Amino acid sequence: MSSPILITGGAGFIGSNFVLEWIGNKRGPLVNLDKLTYAGNPLTLSTIENDPDYTFVHGDICDADLLQGLFQKYRFSAVLHFAAESHVDRSIAGPDAFLTTNIRGTFELLQAARKHYDSLTGAKRDNFRFLHVSTDEVFGTLSPDDPAFHEETPYAPNSPYAASKAASDHLVRAWHHTYKLPTLMTNCSNNYGPYQFPEKLIPLMIANALAGKSLPVYGDGMQVRDWLYVGDHCSAIRTVLAKGKLGETYNIGGCNQRTNMEVVHTLCNLLDELVPDSPHRPHRNLIKHVTDRPGHDRRYAIDARKIERELGWKPAESFETGFRKTVEWYLNNPAWVEGVTSGAYQHWIEENYGHRTGQTVSA
Ligand code: NAD
Ligand code: TYD
Repeated sequence: MSSPILITGGAGFIGSNFVLEWIGNKRGPLVNLDKLTYAGNPLTLSTIENDPDYTFVHGDICDADLLQGLFQKYRFSAVLHFAAESHVDRSIAGPDAFLTTNIRGTFELLQAARKHYDSLTGAKRDNFRFLHVSTDEVFGTLSPDDPAFHEETPYAPNSPYAASKAASDHLVRAWHHTYKLPTLMTNCSNNYGPYQFPEKLIPLMIANALAGKSLPVYGDGMQVRDWLYVGDHCSAIRTVLAKGKLGETYNIGGCNQRTNMEVVHTLCNLLDELVPDSPHRPHRNLIKHVTDRPGHDRRYAIDARKIERELGWKPAESFETGFRKTVEWYLNNPAWVEGVTSGAYQHWIEENYGHRTGQTVSA
């Protein structure tokens, strides 16, 4: 049997989409190491938990002994590093965990992978890869007329989250340059799709709208994000894993720049259509502008021409098709939302939104 790949953070949003596709399509054995923070939900992976190709390990990427034991036991053929603290607002409220997991955790993983790589010979050594999953937020913010972020754009992170991811990217670069670890890196724009924790814009707005709660738009809502369907992010990662050039980084994006107001209005219109008997129609009446996020980045946009030109990857979904699929998924999976929003989630909602003043906007 071939050596498994190691996925970190495979119980989170993007990681679980990746794992479900990988196991569902019988791409090979996979070990998923996840700490199961508030963002990691084993329920998401319940359909594959008995699959012989799938192994779940509950643990922390900061635990060097655990990592060493896992590398010795499984002799991984590749590492795909998704695990992170990932929410900007939480990084503002409490940056500690971001520095620990995103920086220290990446360091420990790089060290364990390096030791393992140094022990490999022949084809196993030639084929080993360490793929670091990162974000476009490391590049900072764009003005309306600036060109999109490309792979050579200087780093200028603005939030504690972005700074901690930038630091982890630099570690990965250094481990390649100094120790010749065969690394690959991806910097992706905002994802949306099934299994996203409802602290992020789109699932939060869906959950609130269905419950008839207000839709809290930070500031004027004219901030721009470049949205990519999560399945397309996963296909890009598989492409980079298979064909990426060692030591290179690849920007991934969907060419779907939208203001937050456009996203929320699109959602409200879709919910009006898909839930015609809702007592909360028209849903746009729930929109409320609230106190802005401190240091809020105005615009992100990704130039994804390198991955298309060099590796032949392009997204399959447009914003319209991916967005409709996503809303339908949340409508059809209320038990999943219920499962992740009980308990600690309520505390976060009070912490993040309780102090924000705001006004409801009628259409
Ligand atoms: P997420 O917050 O949904 O999931 C993170 C997962 O990591 C969770 O399952 C959590 O339990 C796990 N985790 C956290 N700390 C851990 C630790 N110390 N040890 C082991 N596991 C730990 O995040 P996501 O949205 O799925 O993002 C995955 C990766 O993609 C992150 O590295 C993020 O920076 C990057 N990214 C995300 C987006 C996006 O729009 N969500 C866009 C670009 C890049
Ligand atoms: P988010 O999903 O947190 O992703 P990121 O901050 O990493 O881009 O937020 C996306 C955009 O939506 C961002 O400009 C902040 C905004 N936003 C709101 O206006 N209201 C909200 O309640 C949330 C969570 C986000």
